[in-house]
Amino acid sequence: MGTYNIAVIKGDGIGPDIVEQAVKVTKKIGERFGHKFNMTEALAGGAAIDAVGTALPKETVEVCKNSDAVLLGAVGGPKWDNLPGELRPERGALLGLRKELGLFANLRPAIMHRALSNASPIKHEIIGDSLDILAVRELTGGIYFGDKGYREGAYGREAYDVERYSPFEIDRIARIAFDAAMKRNKKVTSVDKANVLESSRLWRSRMEEIAKEYPEVELEHLYVDNAAMQLVRNPKQFDVIVTSNMFGDILSDEASQITGSIGMLPSASLGEGSFGLYEPIHGSAPDIAGMNIANPLATILSVSMMFKYSFGLVKEAKAVEDAVTRVLDKGIRTADIASDGAEYIGTDAMGDAVCAEI
Ligand code: IPM
Ligand code: MG
Repeated sequence: MGTYNIAVIKGDGIGPDIVEQAVKVTKKIGERFGHKFNMTEALAGGAAIDAVGTALPKETVEVCKNSDAVLLGAVGGPKWDNLPGELRPERGALLGLRKELGLFANLRPAIMHRALSNASPIKHEIIGDSLDILAVRELTGGIYFGDKGYREGAYGREAYDVERYSPFEIDRIARIAFDAAMKRNKKVTSVDKANVLESSRLWRSRMEEIAKEYPEVELEHLYVDNAAMQLVRNPKQFDVIVTSNMFGDILSDEASQITGSIGMLPSASLGEGSFGLYEPIHGSAPDIAGMNIANPLATILSVSMMFKYSFGLVKEAKAVEDAVTRVLDKGIRTADIASDGAEYIGTDAMGDAVCAEI
């Protein structure tokens, strides 16, 4: 029995719809296992721009820093798309939170549920009944945070973004990946573009170096173009994929769709301690906001990751995962994962269905 403080950021678009379901599930686990979850709401993203004029208010950062974990829905939408880069909700809120909170490691498990194997766009003879890949994405470095701006070039005013990595940043994400692999199938695929990029050559050599600390783990290197192809050609060859911020952004979306729907995949963003930020990997889907049709399972599964990684509540994490599996096994679906013409239920009802199984 414990007390845990959670900062809750609903964000924009479908953010409030899905977070509400995840909060329900959190409370249900609290009742069932006798924990107290104190949840404090905070504003970020477009909602914060509208309310107080900035995507990441100082109070929000404070609320997060004073919590044990952060649960986040999604941010951004067309309403704020015309703001200059640094004022946009995605950059201001998401990248701001990651940087301010030191969340350098982004874990994105791409797990295909048996019940959803027919939702995968990959042929059954390739994908089989299950898939379990863990993408480990570096989250506070690389081109996202490198020097950027405009300057006069030979053909006029040009824009630039710099990809940069230090050995320290590579080493710490490498260890996260190798540690994870030790608890899984002991294989790490490091993805880079070492045939072209200097930063990738450093990345590759540091991966080799850290691999020496993990003699049991097999390390392989793939160029990112090949990795993107291998993911659809033979996804089962992967166990842990470790890569830079931008390559991880791209490959994790690809991996998610292979499992059936981007609406299913959770993520954890971790720093040095147990503190973490948990969010679905999908975006704010403004076109379906407030319509009670979004799939809340990615956010609900993010709660499961929060229990496991930030609170060390392994049984509780499993209870959430198992509840989701049972719901899917019963054929209960939201629109995005329903087969053509099959019945489906709304966001709210999906949240209730998961709670009922806990
Ligand atoms: C993600 C998102 C963000 C990213 C965007 C919204 C800034 O795509 O979390 O994957 O690129 O990191
Ligand atoms: Mg992304």
